[in-house]
Amino acid sequence: MASSPLNIGLVGFGTVGSGVARILNESAELIAARAGQPVQIRHIVIRDPGRARDHLPAGVTPSDSIDGILADSETSLVVQLIGGTDTAYDYIQKFLAAGKDIVTANKALLYEYGVDLFRQAAADGRTIGFEAAVAGGIPIINVVNQALTGNRINALEAILNGTSNFILTEMLDRQQSYENALAQAQELGYAEADPAMDVDGTDAAQKLAILTWLAFGTEVSLTDCVQRGIDNLQLTDLQVAGELGYKIKLLATARVNEDRLELSVQPTLLRVDRTIAQIDGPDNIIAVYGDFVGKTTYSGAGAGQLPTASAVVADILDYATGRAAATFPSILRSTAGPSLQVQPPEELSRRYYLRLTVEDRPHVLADITDVLGRHEISISLVRQDETPEENDDGLASLVIMTHRTTEGKLRAADMELNQLPAVHGACIRLPVAD
Ligand code: HSE
Repeated sequence: MASSPLNIGLVGFGTVGSGVARILNESAELIAARAGQPVQIRHIVIRDPGRARDHLPAGVTPSDSIDGILADSETSLVVQLIGGTDTAYDYIQKFLAAGKDIVTANKALLYEYGVDLFRQAAADGRTIGFEAAVAGGIPIINVVNQALTGNRINALEAILNGTSNFILTEMLDRQQSYENALAQAQELGYAEADPAMDVDGTDAAQKLAILTWLAFGTEVSLTDCVQRGIDNLQLTDLQVAGELGYKIKLLATARVNEDRLELSVQPTLLRVDRTIAQIDGPDNIIAVYGDFVGKTTYSGAGAGQLPTASAVVADILDYATGRAAATFPSILRSTAGPSLQVQPPEELSRRYYLRLTVEDRPHVLADITDVLGRHEISISLVRQDETPEENDDGLASLVIMTHRTTEGKLRAADMELNQLPAVHGACIRLPVAD
């Protein structure tokens, strides 16, 4: 006798939602075999149900209301793939209250309300699958929640935003402007609806916060994290870094330093021979350091329709097979230990790359090195390319590499540097990962 199907309510039919519909359709037999029952989309909820869309499943009429799902006792799983937080939170609460299990890819929602929602779901005996919320197609949630649970995790080092990584790669490899590379990332479906979240580091910081809760049992907010984006980098930074033997990547780090948690998301210089420096295009990478296993590394597509949809489909299968019911409750147990204190950002210690646009006249370099010296920042390299005698704008680009110093000293020096009359525009400062 054929088993009855697993009916899904799909909320959101954008890039990822239509990718899920495509996989469920194209791999229907394989998925049915793995689930032990056919898996079908029974409801689709979208803002504008009249608009034509690719991969709409036959026989499903989209609606702009979730009421049909709430009222349908034969639809037990809701796959919610909308962005934003308020409506998304409201919907999930209603679905949980109606006894539905959830799969979501919404990392902004989980960053803001995840712990509450997980508690509510666990209390009601429901599950929330969220593999697609962090690092697209890379199964990093599974790694942290299940595969490495025999370890205490000491550090995570990662590239978590595909759009930024794509932009940095395009700029350097094709000598593209930042704006062109961003437009291309949007066309290819990597970027968020508001790409500011991708390029200013917010998307990566939210993902890091989710991983930090899972890996260290510590709830953090974006204000705990040193956060800088790639939006003020220029091609020259990528080129000069390359000439000095480094690649610039938007590096997300969570590390336990003497019982305190270091958190940062910033464009960072990494030596070109490091694996993490070699991750290009929209790919992500996460290196996880466990106390017994050592370092393990996971890389692959961190953004894009089908890689992200593949993670959603894995969550659907986890629900269908009962794996989600077995593993979801353990998340709250694993994260229940004492929280770590977050290290104040001013104390983070690194080497730094600085680039300043300065007037090309006597004593400017002396004024700059004086500011750095007074803040006990020691210089390891100064580079100013020779400017032509007829230097039209009278400006020069100055690159300084420092010895190890703290974020606090550098912030204080930066404020003074920006007040020097000879310094034009903001100083670019990027840490170096040693
Ligand atoms: N916009 C994200 C990125 C993908 O570029 O990585 C979804 O998290």
